[in-house]
Amino acid sequence: MSRLVVVSNRVAVPTDGPAQAGGLAVALREALQENGGIWFGWSGKTSPKPQDEPTMTEVEPVTYATLDLSRRDHQEYYNGFANRTLWPLFHYRLDLADFNRQDYAGYLRVNTHFAERLRPLIREDDDLWVHDYHLIPFASELRRLGVENRIGFFLHTPFPTMEVLLALPSHDRLARSLCAYDVVGFQTVNDLRAFHEYIVHEAGGEILGDNMVRAFGRTLKAEVYPIGIEVETMQRTSAHAMQEPAVRRLVKHMGERNLVIGVDRLDYSKGIPERFRSFERFLEKFPAHQGKVSLMQIAPVSRGEVPEYKNIREELEALAGHINGVYGELDWMPIRYLNKGYPRETLTGFYRTCRVGLVTPLRDGMNLVAKEYVASQNPHEPGVLVLSRFAGAARELDAALQVNPYDQDNVAEALNRAITMPLEERRERWESMMAKVHDSSLDKWRERFLSVLRSVPPGGFGNA
Ligand code: F6P
Repeated sequence: MSRLVVVSNRVAVPTDGPAQAGGLAVALREALQENGGIWFGWSGKTSPKPQDEPTMTEVEPVTYATLDLSRRDHQEYYNGFANRTLWPLFHYRLDLADFNRQDYAGYLRVNTHFAERLRPLIREDDDLWVHDYHLIPFASELRRLGVENRIGFFLHTPFPTMEVLLALPSHDRLARSLCAYDVVGFQTVNDLRAFHEYIVHEAGGEILGDNMVRAFGRTLKAEVYPIGIEVETMQRTSAHAMQEPAVRRLVKHMGERNLVIGVDRLDYSKGIPERFRSFERFLEKFPAHQGKVSLMQIAPVSRGEVPEYKNIREELEALAGHINGVYGELDWMPIRYLNKGYPRETLTGFYRTCRVGLVTPLRDGMNLVAKEYVASQNPHEPGVLVLSRFAGAARELDAALQVNPYDQDNVAEALNRAITMPLEERRERWESMMAKVHDSSLDKWRERFLSVLRSVPPGGFGNA
């Protein structure tokens, strides 16, 4: 079978330590290990000048090839266009999107530079799999350099509706470059529909049978591949994690009380301020829970140099202080707000300990925390998932208590229902969700995408 080349903004180099060994990293690493290959992308470091020759780390049979970004590239490509333009836009936050030509030029420059650096490493029969919004123009840059290999792309975030995408000054070029791939994968049918809408109504393209799209002079396959988790590993780990010191401490401190857990990168798309306000509403509306239920919010800082991320941090500190000040007692605090990350193993134990998983993003590509919370539960006494209808995971997890995260009363009522739900109903809902989590496991996601990519005829589906 052909060799695989994975390209992503961040690369999980094993010699850099276990901190990056998240689910996606493990899945991609396994795909590479099957037939050998290269994982190419940013090293996570900056240096005064762009790095010309990638740093190669061999961990048989995988070669990790990484490049440092210059400070300017980091600012314009990563902090700028990727995280101040595309990220808010793709999460329907036009109010936070910054459209800046210099950042856009930086985004294109890094994509060009990365493609030029990868070009000499590509063999004729390699298959390439590119990930996420940082690298949309990557394939078109490779095509310009004469690369005719199969190239697939998976978008981990939502794809916005046409009306939102049209606000991006460079929407045409971005959509055109997306069509330079042979296979484009989206998280949900909503995202695929939004892409189709743009292709038909703005790009003058066509939707053909068998999920094929013809636009900008190319034919490609665009499909839905909902990403998943390593279900069995998660189940095993969560049972063992109950013996971990941090989990035991939590259980001891909780006593008879119930905990609601939220785990998110500190990002405005996750709806954390709205969640805090809903929790306050819950205490107000259902005072019997005062003194008995707390929200534990774990939110490690993310993209901390981007102004909008600094603002949300300040907002949350003020909100948590306000709610704890108003409702807190000597021996009970309504909100436990932790600005730090925990190892995955410990988190699975936290999920298993907490009666409710509160996952209320305002918009999310998939949200794997929702699936991880489900997989970590004790089958005999599962907790309840309260899930935003705007998370990609809501499509599959229809047995969760689904909420509108903008509606505080709705979330407060769902929390009350979750806390008071009889065991029988908890079990039924959990079993139904587990079946779905199994159906879209991380292995299946990867195997499905790669088998479709590998079925692309040599030279692609042809030009229109
Ligand atoms: O799609 C979500 C995503 O951007 C991933 O690509 C990335 O691994 C994760 O969020 C964390 O973000 P960052 O790499 O900016 O820290």
